[in-house]
Amino acid sequence: MGSVTSEGAKERAALAAVALVEEGTTIAVGSGSTVDKAIRALGRRFEGSLRKPAVVAASRRSEMLVTEAGLPLLMLDKVTSFPLMLDGADEVAPDLTLIKGGGGALTREKLLATMSQSLVIMVDYTKLVQRIGEHALLPVEVVPFAAPYVGRKLRELNLEPTVRISPGGAIVPYLTDNHCEILDCRLPSRVFDPQELEANILKIRGVLDCGLFVRMANRVFVGTRDGRVEEMHPPTSPPRLHLPEELREALLRKMARGPVTPPVPVRRRPKSRKATRPSPHRRPKGKRSR
Ligand code: A5P
Repeated sequence: MGSVTSEGAKERAALAAVALVEEGTTIAVGSGSTVDKAIRALGRRFEGSLRKPAVVAASRRSEMLVTEAGLPLLMLDKVTSFPLMLDGADEVAPDLTLIKGGGGALTREKLLATMSQSLVIMVDYTKLVQRIGEHALLPVEVVPFAAPYVGRKLRELNLEPTVRISPGGAIVPYLTDNHCEILDCRLPSRVFDPQELEANILKIRGVLDCGLFVRMANRVFVGTRDGRVEEMHPPTSPPRLHLPEELREALLRKMARGPVTPPVPVRRRPKSRKATRPSPHRRPKGKRSR
């Protein structure tokens, strides 16, 4: 087969992912050109069905497309979790660490992904990288008032932030669906611990979220250059626990403390046959104190 374009490869990956959606379920979708293709394919697949899947979408654009595709659109007041979320990505590392948010929907995407039992990512071959940050900038969504402060704090983390500019032509900051700004950050040449980096970014006041998705993706469908769809899995899939928040916190705290050291066994001294002197604190037998 000849060389497939990036758009063609996205289409194939989207079709493979849409095949996982079951009638009558409620799923989540992210945002971006690959998600657009998946939403349209979903609409075609369930055309005429009486049990079309309902969808919660991570951006206004995706919401509009869901409605156009004839699928029921839901908001979060009606849903507590999803069996499945379909989304795209800007970069996929071999361990399935992702950079997302090229379309600015990262905060809502991460929220929906957290509520989903399975996050299925659809990408074309151009998105695969050996190390995270190889091509893509890492988007950080910030409250506009806090942007200069957050920018300074990001530099202290060895990141190089620039304010994303609106595509309209005027030099004004791009605003997300949450009315926030995006600081696009160049990552250092090597990020040893993406989870730690994410945690450090999220500690900065004024940050809503960042586009690092670590250990969140369960499967990645990759549309290849030669027209196939390959599937990637996390190196070891940690179980996705759906526990009440406080229980989860307690479990994570326990795990952070590390393994419990078993107590050192106490060796008892063998009983001596010789009569021992009575302890001055011992009461003589038979005498009870009143
Ligand atoms: C949207 O905010 C992003 O997370 C997208 O998933 C990402 O930018 C991929 O977009 P494409 O599907 O358009 O490549």
